[in-house]
Amino acid sequence: MKLAEKIDRIKKEKKAIILAHNYQRPEIQDIADYIGDSIELSRKAMEEKEAEIIVFAAVDFMAESAAILNPKKKVLLPSLGARCPMAQMLTPAEIKRYKKRYPNVPTVLYVNTLASSKAQCDICCTSANAVEVVKSFKSDIILFGPDRNLADYISEITQKKLITIPEWGFCPTHVLFQPEDVIFLKKQYPDAKVMVHPECSSEMRKVADFVGSTSKMCNYAKRTNAKTIIVGTEKGLLHRLKKENPNKKFILAYDDAVCPNMKLITLEKVYASLKNEQHVINIPISIARKARKSLEKMFELNN
Ligand code: 13P
Ligand code: SF4
Repeated sequence: MKLAEKIDRIKKEKKAIILAHNYQRPEIQDIADYIGDSIELSRKAMEEKEAEIIVFAAVDFMAESAAILNPKKKVLLPSLGARCPMAQMLTPAEIKRYKKRYPNVPTVLYVNTLASSKAQCDICCTSANAVEVVKSFKSDIILFGPDRNLADYISEITQKKLITIPEWGFCPTHVLFQPEDVIFLKKQYPDAKVMVHPECSSEMRKVADFVGSTSKMCNYAKRTNAKTIIVGTEKGLLHRLKKENPNKKFILAYDDAVCPNMKLITLEKVYASLKNEQHVINIPISIARKARKSLEKMFELNN
């Protein structure tokens, strides 16, 4: 029996579902019950009623959010190594230091943070709703972490000053994209449209026709009349884009834009995760309670 079939069988036996991020390997996306960006996956995890186990094919902070939002379910991360390096760049101690320095300034944190950091903020946001979340505050100054590029993007649109914690936070995969590569591709495909993730640099945003979260990029790809689309985000998204738009051509703006952490999830690990019920995400209750409030506020705003 093929591994994918074994996974399907054990998944049914154990009443489990598999949620996969848009950057997952093609074979993982193909066996997932649901694929999405970080807010869609969090919402799905929060609303899940039937399943007893949620296998989260993504990275640590996304599985943590699922466990926080649905504490009655067993949430499994198939590889403990699947940790988002950007999330590790922000410590609760650093947030406390900034909050002390700017006592009355609201703190907005990107969901790409660990639960212990989320517990320190007023509200969370994802790249899909960051502008709306920041606009919801009267204050013209906001403490924001950890992604510097996302902060600059929000600032450009809202005209608010975002003080980033830390000053230099970044995604090691998205900073690989260079506008020169896009300009070169545009010479070959002059009618192509360019879509990029807001974790890319401001120079990349300047050469883009569309900036948005991974799922928003999927929507843009469907509605644009362009037949060729240059993509500025992690390679994994191309699988979904091609599947949903078989008549369009997708070109990754930088061919090695791979998030090695996302790629740690393999079929073998998903199977082992289901079989051995590993690795269970456990968040200390006091942290989970506070982090949950920050996530719930984001959902209230988005409803
Ligand atoms: P999305 O919320 O757009 O899926 O992004 C998550 C992420 O980790 C981007 O690098
Ligand atoms: Fe983290 Fe970047 Fe990977 Fe997204 S692509 S999970 S931000 S390292």
